[in-house]
Amino acid sequence: MCGIVGFMSRNTPAAGPLVSGLHRLEYRGYDSAGVALVAPDGLRVYKQTGKVAELDALLKRELSEEDRRRCTIGIAHTRWATHGLPTRENAHPHLAGGGTLALVHNGIVENYASLRAGLEKRGVQFVSQTDTEVLAHLVAHYDQGDLLAATCKALRRVEGTYGIALVSAKHPGEMIVARKGSPLVIGVGESDIVVASDVSAIVAFTRQVIYLKDGDVARITPGSVDIHSLDNAPVSREVQEVDWDIGAIEKGGYEHFMLKEIFEQPDALRNTIRGRLDPTGGTAILSGLNLSPRELAAIRRLVIIGCGTSLHAGMVGKYLFEDLADIPASPEQAAEFRYCNPIVGPDDWVIALSQSGETADTLAAVRESIRKGALVSGLCNVVGSTIAREAGRGVYLHAGPEISVASTKAFTAQVTALLMTALKLGRTRRLSREEGIRLVAEIMRIPDLISAVLERNDAIARAAEKHANANDMFFIGRGILYPTALEGALKIKEIAYVHAEGYQAAELKHGPIALLCPKTPVVALLADIPGKEKTLGNVQECRARRAPVIGLVTEGDSEAAAAVDDAITLPPTSRELAPIVSVVALQLFAYHVARLRGCEIDQPRNLAKSVTVE
Ligand code: M6R
Repeated sequence: MCGIVGFMSRNTPAAGPLVSGLHRLEYRGYDSAGVALVAPDGLRVYKQTGKVAELDALLKRELSEEDRRRCTIGIAHTRWATHGLPTRENAHPHLAGGGTLALVHNGIVENYASLRAGLEKRGVQFVSQTDTEVLAHLVAHYDQGDLLAATCKALRRVEGTYGIALVSAKHPGEMIVARKGSPLVIGVGESDIVVASDVSAIVAFTRQVIYLKDGDVARITPGSVDIHSLDNAPVSREVQEVDWDIGAIEKGGYEHFMLKEIFEQPDALRNTIRGRLDPTGGTAILSGLNLSPRELAAIRRLVIIGCGTSLHAGMVGKYLFEDLADIPASPEQAAEFRYCNPIVGPDDWVIALSQSGETADTLAAVRESIRKGALVSGLCNVVGSTIAREAGRGVYLHAGPEISVASTKAFTAQVTALLMTALKLGRTRRLSREEGIRLVAEIMRIPDLISAVLERNDAIARAAEKHANANDMFFIGRGILYPTALEGALKIKEIAYVHAEGYQAAELKHGPIALLCPKTPVVALLADIPGKEKTLGNVQECRARRAPVIGLVTEGDSEAAAAVDDAITLPPTSRELAPIVSVVALQLFAYHVARLRGCEIDQPRNLAKSVTVE
């Protein structure tokens, strides 16, 4: 979704750092970009539809050498259209005060129509269809010489969410930033200050950061950051150190971030697991959950909420919790949960899954669950993210930054974190120490099992080659492998633009089988775990309709291999780990199909990395 970068320095020209910051945010998805620089005689504003590279080319053409050198303060933005088409007029920064004030915004101003009408009555003329432009005009309207006070006053009138950065030619040495419901981080370097909506645009400059909290408004000048509440009272926020460096968000020799992140999974999962298993007690140590055995014993039901890939991980969680802890668990799409009068209370444990920790639907569901008195935990990857903070307790995935829009390592880390959580909960209930010890040993095998799947990359690429031209595909799985079928279908839709559907293997014959023909490959999840025999029956039904079947089969399982047209072999695995082992093969399959179709893998059309609108 939209991205913000701000740069403040005494001597360093701002244009270069702003553009490189925008490049770092490209992975989030966007359709236009813009920059505003503060020059001694006014603002310089450049906007462009399309890619950041095109904005950069515009700057190279139109920003004079003198301005480039002397503009050391500026703000920049990548926009993912919500209100109004992706045009130059609608691109940020938006101007007000006769072009003296420029503002960039992430989020949505829900009451923008009434605010706009009020401003229009006062003679303000709007040039865009965006909700953001009202913010710029409101601040300009209230500016009586104190930009921070004017921003606070304007923001107090706003309903909705925002992360903003603004500069003004009337206050040339300062920048104001604020957040509510949309992240904003301030990087405090030795001589320069960088602001961004995502820490990945900051780590090239500094790893010392301040995470703003909702309701914070900061005045930044060269060498100082003063943070206030919306009532303009000073507040203090600690400077924290980001625990990863720039290498983590570079491609490291891989052609795409997605491929890098798929191959990173053994290490990512080692980090998810590290220090969290007790091989002697046969349990998991998840201190971030902060739940006493008594609280765990009192839980009657689990609700696992998430969207997209995170929802699919949550669906795997249902099987894990019900099997290992004997406790009913319902996975829920976060927005549906939020708007369907969720029946949760003090006996329910709501687990929110989110890679980014910023997904608006999941966040809204978290807030609703807290309001209703449920016990709420967040399983997030991004440290300090809103869901992690608001849930107050949880498990960080520690999978490292995920740049590719298509989520891969977050899924396997989420399933692993859920497995450890189910183990912990199970050990307070029906799970024996012996079973616990077996599971701990299983979890410790995950990184090596994933490595073994990655070794099959070439074979998977060959299978992808055979089917890369298909326009429709089906993915089938049974029981704990059903969510993996959904995830396989989602991956190929997202990055290869192939229409794909995931089904419970048994459901296919209740309707979708009507679509099967020689042009509709079926990917069948056939790991050798209970239920496989039945899925093999479903495979026969597909082949009888001449649909080619690609089977993910366990090494040495000649029966399954013989039952399919193309077999991709997987290392033997337990039932609990089968989703992880299988999904890695599906991630690679989707990746190769997308590559062969010439798709833009890391930034698929219409998608955003972090969906911060409901
Ligand atoms: O950051 P989150 O895990 O909350 O994101 C949820 C979904 O938006 C995300 O998983 C999305 O479906 C991905 N594009 C999947 O690859």
